[in-house]
Amino acid sequence: MAGGMSGRVVMVTGANAGMGKEIVFALAGMGATVVMVCRDSGRGEAARREVQERSGSGDVELLVADLSSQQSIRNLVREFAASHDRLHVLVNNAGITQPRRIETADGLESVFATNHLGPFLLTNLLLPLLTASAPSRVVTVASGAHTMGKIDFDDVQASRRYNEIAVYNQSKLANLLFTYELARRIAGTGVSANAADPGFVKTNLRVPFPYSIFSFMRGAAVDGARPAVFLASSPEVGGVSGRYFGRKGEVRSSKASLDEADARRLWTLSAQLTHLDAEG
Ligand SMILES: NC(=O)c1ccc[n+]([C@@H]2O[C@H](COP(=O)([O-])OP(=O)(O)OC[C@H]3O[C@@H](n4cnc5c(N)ncnc54)[C@H](OP(=O)(O)O)[C@@H]3O)[C@@H](O)[C@H]2O)c1
Repeated sequence: MAGGMSGRVVMVTGANAGMGKEIVFALAGMGATVVMVCRDSGRGEAARREVQERSGSGDVELLVADLSSQQSIRNLVREFAASHDRLHVLVNNAGITQPRRIETADGLESVFATNHLGPFLLTNLLLPLLTASAPSRVVTVASGAHTMGKIDFDDVQASRRYNEIAVYNQSKLANLLFTYELARRIAGTGVSANAADPGFVKTNLRVPFPYSIFSFMRGAAVDGARPAVFLASSPEVGGVSGRYFGRKGEVRSSKASLDEADARRLWTLSAQLTHLDAEG
């Protein structure tokens, strides 16, 4: 569908490596204007040049931001709005695993901050622009790992007990609770919110033990990128919102991900932790 995204402005986070780079490559190849959000200017610029050369697109831009820092996200939104008056697709892709508990500049646990609070804040700050550009789409890259996740509302930042796998699984469940709650909140605005399941993919993402034993089973990043690219670009899902798609189409997410009370509770907590109410 070359040219199918012509005139569409897309933002992709975590765009310099792994699936993010493949998502950018695919959407640039379809004619979209793609803004790559990367945390390191050197890695970001190298990837931007590579994508531009491979896709033959002249419309690939770079903005530098650290998704674990709320100030950096606010700066990113201001910088983006200074040069763009439309945004048709936001792909929340950046994500991490972290073997030890680390706190961000905001004093928050880094996996929860990067994988959930970052996309939560970025999406909310960009929502006015997405709504003004409707029809538009928010795509968040979740994971099958969410099925083993539990939101520990008593210790959501794992201050008392840190387990790398549990913290990652929680953040990926949060991606789904966020997507479904967002879809409910923005229903009727022309903005959709869906989540992607890439499968198990060979990227730079650290795979903790015991899952590392199965690393040989990982697929190619280009294949893992497909669900997000489909949700970002296909006319087939133009009117679809609040859903979860894998490589073979729509998939059922866990019972926990469908809990509306938990989704509202997580939203309220996330708004507090990102000072969203004060910021508007
Ligand atoms: N790989 C899998 O099997 C798998 C399965 C299910 C879901 N996922 C999800 O897929 C998404 C992409 O991951 P990937 O597998 O492609 O991993 P990856 O190769 O490690 O790519 C992650 C990207 O996110 C960026 N990033 C990390 N922290 C950031 C921050 N604080 N601010 C801005 N950018 C940041 C990284 O930048 P740097 O290069 O600077 O580190 C990189 O560009 C993640 O959300 C992950 O949870 C992956």
